[in-house]
This record gives sequence, structure tokens and C-alpha cells, in this order.
Amino acid sequence: MRVGIGILGGGTVGGTLARKLLEDREVIAAKSGIDLELVRVAVRDLSLPRVFPASYATDRPEDVVADPSVDLVVEVMGGLEPALGLVLAALDLGKPVVTANKEMVAAEGPTLFTRAASKGVSLLFEAAVGGGIPLIRPLSESLSGERIRRVLGIVNGTTNFILTAMESEGWSYEAAVAEAQRLGYAEADPTADVSGADAGAKAAILAGLAFGVWVGPDRVFVEGIEGLDAADLVYARQLGYRVKLLAVAEDTGDGVVARVHPAFVPLDHPLSGVRGAANAVFIEGPDIGELLFMGPGAGGGPTATAVLGDVIEAARELLAAAQVAPRIRFGPGTVLDFADVETKWYLRLEVVDAPGVLAQIAGVFGEHRVSIMSVWQEGRGDAATLLLVTHDAPESNHRAATDALRHLDVVRQVAATVRVVTDEP
Ligand SMILES: NC(=O)c1ccc[n+]([C@@H]2O[C@H](COP(=O)([O-])OP(=O)(O)OC[C@H]3O[C@@H](n4cnc5c(N)ncnc54)[C@H](OP(=O)(O)O)[C@@H]3O)[C@@H](O)[C@H]2O)c1
Repeated sequence: MRVGIGILGGGTVGGTLARKLLEDREVIAAKSGIDLELVRVAVRDLSLPRVFPASYATDRPEDVVADPSVDLVVEVMGGLEPALGLVLAALDLGKPVVTANKEMVAAEGPTLFTRAASKGVSLLFEAAVGGGIPLIRPLSESLSGERIRRVLGIVNGTTNFILTAMESEGWSYEAAVAEAQRLGYAEADPTADVSGADAGAKAAILAGLAFGVWVGPDRVFVEGIEGLDAADLVYARQLGYRVKLLAVAEDTGDGVVARVHPAFVPLDHPLSGVRGAANAVFIEGPDIGELLFMGPGAGGGPTATAVLGDVIEAARELLAAAQVAPRIRFGPGTVLDFADVETKWYLRLEVVDAPGVLAQIAGVFGEHRVSIMSVWQEGRGDAATLLLVTHDAPESNHRAATDALRHLDVVRQVAATVRVVTDEP
């Protein structure tokens, strides 16, 4: 049974997918019983060299969508527009869509899922989070019977590479970014990665799938790694932690919250051992316990393989002409403000080394109902560095306590604040 494939985008992912479809057509047909025929690949610049024959390329993506011999559309061009308009047009024509576009899915998920359901076709996006790691299908299908409590993920390989290099090589943030760019792990403009925006879109998708409540990227608290000082990665080790940029989606019992920020992760936690550009996602639930998904979060080969899995699944459904039930539904639910959520903090304070200083600092925390779990002090003449780790308290209390500390005469500087993420949700 033949299914014609049109690809929007012929770059890292789309180019590899086109090549795989051409090279592996017989192998795929033998395994799945489906003959996937590459019809066309839309690109922006027809003069660029491609990893697939140039005869497949066109610079008119709307023609790919409308082509009657294209039964299924793959969107791997990225960005919001024109990708969104093209995907909606494909769905309106009754064509299933496979996408790897986290930005579009995070921003427009409900519109896309509703449109796909109303047309009775699939919209699959396995590669949008965690690249080559099978994650979306396990979350939305295999685990749909579990009351997931928390999802913790390292979902941006670029920032994990930078943090690993800073810690293991002792490099500054700037040196680690330059090395990531040299090795092709970071773009010339790394803002989307280091600001946490890329991970924020993924956190929004993970929260939606884990809890069935659409959070949307605007409600995700996002703090990037730009402000991190290499000294705090060293102090983290002394205290028994490693610093990771974590995406956290949580059901606190009162509601759902999603956030992305650098976090101290205990050295014995599996996420702490995820090094370099790898991705890993840790899922916790009362009956399943703990699940860890780990692997390549990006790259043409891994990502195109995840996309191809979706293509085969969508083609199978198309051929079965089954009434495709909407895969994902969102119900009412409470989305929490991160300020109300309980967190633990690590703080590095530069203080005056004099009697009574610790008491004043403890007093400020007490006034803001934040209790201190551990204190470590390093004196240097009349000054000292104080490392504190707090117990759980509302994020807003931590912020207020930190503001108050900045006004204490004995505190010369609040040099760093990083949230601590431990095993207990
Ligand atoms: N790369 C990864 O490892 C990875 C992993 C997971 C998810 N993703 C997602 O997959 C998507 C594609 O990523 P990528 O790395 O493959 O990007 P890419 O290498 O930049 O490729 C984008 C492709 O889309 C084409 N394109 C862009 N705008 C177009 C337009 N208006 N009309 C026609 N063609 C257009 C480009 O044409 P030209 O080649 O002519 O410029 C290029 O072929 C993104 O949503 C990304 O977030 C990527």
C-alpha cells in the first residue's frame, strides 16, 4: 500500500529524513507493509547543496501540501509561520501531519490538536521533545493510566554540554559557549538555548501530556544559564550536587506548574550523571515509581528516526482508514503561579566576617518563614563566603528573603541563588 510523503524543510532533520525514505524504502515496506514514497521536499533556497537528489526540491511549500499525490505531510521547517498555516492547511485537506516543531506545538497545541481531531487525522510530534528519545508516545499512551506526579528533564543538550564543560574543565561560561559553538552544539546565536526558551517550550509540552492540562509556553517560569558563575558549580560539588538546567513539570495537588531553571541536583540522582549534549527525562508516579528516558536529544539521524516512526504510525492509521480518536484531550485544571510553589534554594552570600552576622541572616530567613537546612562558611580575614541550602518554602518567600538580605549591611553581595531539586517532589 503506497503513501506519498511531502516534507516541509530539507535541512538537518528534513534532509536526513528524505535520504532515509529513499535509501530504506524497501526495508520499511518489508517491516511495516507500507510503501512510503517521497514525493517532494520544500526548501527556501534551491541553490544550496542537499543530501537528497535536487529533483525532489521545491521552494513552494504550499504546493507540497496541496499536491494530490502527497497523502501525509512532515513539517520540519521550524518556527511559527509559515509552518503553522501550512500544517493547518494540510489538516484541512484531511492529510495527517508529523512535526518536530516544539515551538509551534507548545504555542499552538490546542488549536492543532482540535483541528486534527475535527478532521479525523493524526498530528504526531515525537521528535519535538527529546529528539531521538521515544518520549511523547510513552507519556501520552503507555503512561496514560498513571497519575504522574512529576517530570524532571534535561531537554536541552546545548546547555547541558556548556554546564558539563564548565564543571569538568573549570571553564568560564563564555569559554564553554565558544567551545559548544566550535563543536556545532550551539548556534552562532545561542540565545534560544541559553535563555531557557527552547527548554521552556518543551516543558510546556511535557506538562500538557503528563497532566492533561494545557499550560502553554507563556505560563512556564523560565530562567536560563547566562547568569551562572563557574564558582557555584564548584561549590555545588562541595555540597554534594551538580548544576543542571532542568525542565520541571509538576502536579502539586493544588494544580500544575511548569518551570525551567538551573538547579542543584544531588550527585546520586540519575539526572546528575547526564553529561555532555545528552538529554534525559525522569518521570515519577505512584504506581510506576521512577522511569528514566535518556539518549540523543538532537541531531539529524536521531531526530529523523523519531519523525520516521511517527510517519509509519500515521500512515498505518491512514491506511486502516480508522476513525482516529483524538490522541490528546485537555480538561479543566488549575495552572499554578510558580511564586506559590515550594522550592529549596542554594544561596552564596559574601558577608562581613564578624560576630552576630549569621544570626542577622537567620533572622531575615525566619521573618520570611524560610528555614535553613545547611550552612557552610569560608572565612577570609574580615570577609567570608556563606553557602546556605534552605528547606522547602514558597518561591515568593525565598525571593522576598533574598531581597531583604541585599539590604543588610553585613551582606556585601548575594552572589548566587540556585534552586535545589531533590528526590522528594
Ligand atoms: N536539528 C535537530 O537536531 C532537531 C531536533 C529536534 C527537533 N528539531 C526541530 O526540527 C525542525 C527543523 O530543524 P532543523 O535543525 O532541521 O532546521 P534546519 O536545518 O534549519 O532546516 C530547516 C529547513 O526548512 C527550510 N525552510 C525554512 N523556512 C522555509 C520557508 N519559509 N519555505 C520553505 N522552506 C523553508 C530550510 O530551507 P533552506 O535549507 O533552503 O534554508 C531548511 O531546509 C525545527 O522545528 C527544530 O526545532 C530539530
